[in-house]
Amino acid sequence: MLLEVQNLKVSYGNIEALYGVSFNVDKGEIVTLIGANGAGKTSTLMSLARLPRPEAPVVTSGDILYNGASILKTEPHTLIQKKMMALVPEGRHIFGNLTVDENLQMATYAHRRDINRNVLISELSELIYTLFPRLYERRKQRGELLSGGEQQMLAVGRALMTGSDFILLDEPSMGLAPKLMYEMFRALRKLNTDKHVTILVVEQNAKVALEFASRGYVLKTGEIIIQGTSEELLAHHEVRKAYLGG
Ligand SMILES: Nc1ncnc2c1ncn2[C@@H]1O[C@H](COP(=O)(O)OP(=O)(O)OP(=O)(O)O)[C@@H](O)[C@H]1O
Ligand SMILES: [Mg+2]
Repeated sequence: MLLEVQNLKVSYGNIEALYGVSFNVDKGEIVTLIGANGAGKTSTLMSLARLPRPEAPVVTSGDILYNGASILKTEPHTLIQKKMMALVPEGRHIFGNLTVDENLQMATYAHRRDINRNVLISELSELIYTLFPRLYERRKQRGELLSGGEQQMLAVGRALMTGSDFILLDEPSMGLAPKLMYEMFRALRKLNTDKHVTILVVEQNAKVALEFASRGYVLKTGEIIIQGTSEELLAHHEVRKAYLGG
């Protein structure tokens, strides 16, 4: 198993956000966690990637195993340096004053001492520009001038630039028109099929997420309440009622 989350509890100060969440992701899979606003989706991804942010949640108990070993004490920059995982955060967080090209190059900063960094940059940029031709057309444009959908593609591109083959995505469909949203998921699926990138995606848009992933978990107020294959979840009475509009 690539990732095993075991009975994870996390809080923000004295506010608990996850009450013992367990799930796993195998190498090469596309897995989704679906849930409504405030269910704990972002908290789950934040506790996996543990970006050093003041608003990050604290793990109070449970464990996170990566290839069988706990990463609870692994520094977040080590996760990037060792290409273990890369997060596409909620709200994109791209650099508005840098061009698309520069944003992608910046994402390889963790590998700045790697003598092959330039090879890495050219190989990975090519992959990303092939995946997202729109980004290629806009490669000299500043990030802040991109449309929301293009910014989301750039955010995915930046995660891929870390060289990791395990990508965590926080609501990639957010704010995207249906056409762009499907373009995004098609590109992600291609990445999974052709490049064997493992994907964990959290989504409020359960329909899209379950059409994209092969397995999923339903997160409700900090707990996993239902799990199964995407077909099982799409057919599940409660999932249909609460998350798929009946
Ligand atoms: N920085 C924070 N400080 C305090 N509580 C927080 C913080 N961030 C999230 N929470 C709380 O933790 C719980 C889970 O929030 P989380 O952001 O993980 O939900 P989510 O599923 O990502 O929701 P959304 O779909 O709105 O993004 C909520 O009750 C939320 O109010
Ligand atoms: Mg969220």
